[in-house]
Amino acid sequence: MLKLADDQGDLAVTRAASKYDIPFIQSTVSSFSIEEVGQSGDGPKWFQLYWTSLEDVSYSFVKRAEEAGSEAIVVTIDTVTLGFREKDLSYGYSPLADGYGQGNFESDDVFLSTLAEVNDSTIVDGIIKQINYPALNWSHIKKLKRMTSLPILLKGVLHPEDALQAIHCGVDGLIVSNHGGRQLDGVISSIDALPEIAKVVNGKIPVLFDSGIRRGSDALKVLVLGADAVLIGRPYVYSLAIDGEKGVSQFLANFLQDFSSSMVLAGVKNIKQLKQMKIVCG
Ligand SMILES: Cc1cc2nc3c(=O)[nH]c(=O)nc-3n(C[C@H](O)[C@H](O)[C@H](O)COP(=O)(O)O)c2cc1C
Repeated sequence: MLKLADDQGDLAVTRAASKYDIPFIQSTVSSFSIEEVGQSGDGPKWFQLYWTSLEDVSYSFVKRAEEAGSEAIVVTIDTVTLGFREKDLSYGYSPLADGYGQGNFESDDVFLSTLAEVNDSTIVDGIIKQINYPALNWSHIKKLKRMTSLPILLKGVLHPEDALQAIHCGVDGLIVSNHGGRQLDGVISSIDALPEIAKVVNGKIPVLFDSGIRRGSDALKVLVLGADAVLIGRPYVYSLAIDGEKGVSQFLANFLQDFSSSMVLAGVKNIKQLKQMKIVCG
């Protein structure tokens, strides 16, 4: 729904990320379609899948992502239903209902064929009806693994047993995330969950991290705690709202500079050395 921040939405962000060869993860509920994002900028793109209640729509998105050149599928597993967000409810705030986030749906023949009639309001209703799927379980992940040749990452892992089960199901990477604290109230923070997950995974598959990364030095901390890579959520959207593509570009330049300065100040030459550092408490 990046058009909420800027008319160019996902396209502005992909162009900015491309400059630094940073992958862009396109949401299922993006403002532009998989194909439009695929053609924007020349950096790597990954597709984030919200498993819809109609399996064929989910598979259609994955197939389109493959054809559009996506390099990975990120299945978000912590949003099988929306968290109870009082402020959104009291303000009556629902960007989906306002028509944001339908780029992939309005361009999907399989989705459109599920509607009795196609117009703006049936599209919105169809998305709202199909976007949640609380019955999502490991069998879906195993089936998806057979359906696509792209690597599959699970986003929203917070428990070491889930990490091990994911490896057992053939998942190619994990994203330790609590969705920026927007889903289950009182849930463990991602940074507290990370060390134990990194320990049990033990290098078998990459462990990525998000929720709370705000600047380069945050990235350094989670790499020391066992992450192989970090994802940025809200900060790039704030930058997009302030100054579009230029804002995102400036934010990424600042982030990368902060990261390298922090590396130098921490006395490490490269990521390998950083990952060998130990945290000493007390
Ligand atoms: C407004 C908003 C929209 C989001 N939309 C999605 C989404 O469509 N798919 C998804 O997997 N995560 C979504 N997230 C979660 C982010 O991907 C990320 O996990 C979270 O924001 C934590 O990172 P941060 O602390 O850097 O913001 C959204 C978060 C926010 C704040």
